[in-house]
Amino acid sequence: MTLPDFRRRKATRTAQARISFVTCYDCAFARLIAQTELDCILVGDSVAMVVHGHPSTLAADLAMMVFHTESVARGAGGKFIVADMPFLEHRKGQSEAVSAAQALLRAGAQAVKIEGAAGNLAIIQNLVEGGVPVMGHIGLTPQFIHAFGGFKVQGREDAAAEKILADAKALEAAGVFSLVIEGVPASLGKRITDALSIPTIGIGAGPDCDGQVLVLHDLLGFTEKPPKFARAFGEVAHASVAALRAYDEAVKASTFPAAKESYA
Ligand code: KIV
Repeated sequence: MTLPDFRRRKATRTAQARISFVTCYDCAFARLIAQTELDCILVGDSVAMVVHGHPSTLAADLAMMVFHTESVARGAGGKFIVADMPFLEHRKGQSEAVSAAQALLRAGAQAVKIEGAAGNLAIIQNLVEGGVPVMGHIGLTPQFIHAFGGFKVQGREDAAAEKILADAKALEAAGVFSLVIEGVPASLGKRITDALSIPTIGIGAGPDCDGQVLVLHDLLGFTEKPPKFARAFGEVAHASVAALRAYDEAVKASTFPAAKESYA
């Protein structure tokens, strides 16, 4: 995928033109994703929760995002990589936003994602003019967890829906090449998608977005209580526990290592 491909996919708007994103945080999984037809990788700040066990994404700082972006880039085999701008990093000022984007692109990302619209438009415009592809993110933006009072579906009331739609249009005008819509009613996901000429990528925003993104560990079946919008397409956690148990049993039964696993 390249930026022109994003534009072409939106213009096409067929089922085959849908854009598939998955989060990824390390080289080992990036190598697996590289073997698939998945279009793009998001090094999400969800890494703080999924990999590091924090209760929210706020713990993902720039060093953490750079570290994981570098790891993913080593295995991604040329897939388009978007890296999350960490909580408040871009709000420190234009110069800090530029430095953070520079660090993430130097780490191997092709684009950065910034949550929210109000107060971000000039920052986004400056980055885009400087050659940094920026993805927007609206709706249930996880960095706003304390402002929202939890991970709650956004845009259920008419006024809130209108505000999110207006934010989407403002972000498009500021130059984002694509927009993540998270945790809103499906009808709002469709309205925003119909209103924009850039592709929308939904997560808990219904089936009418131009693409979808899921957290890798949710779709692989690692997450004990996945959110309503997620689907486990595999049972990798169960398979992993079974493998670990089999190894433990083999050690204790002295069947591992066997002769073929030992040096003469
Ligand atoms: O950090 C993340 O994983 C995300 C997705 C949920 C869109 O931002």
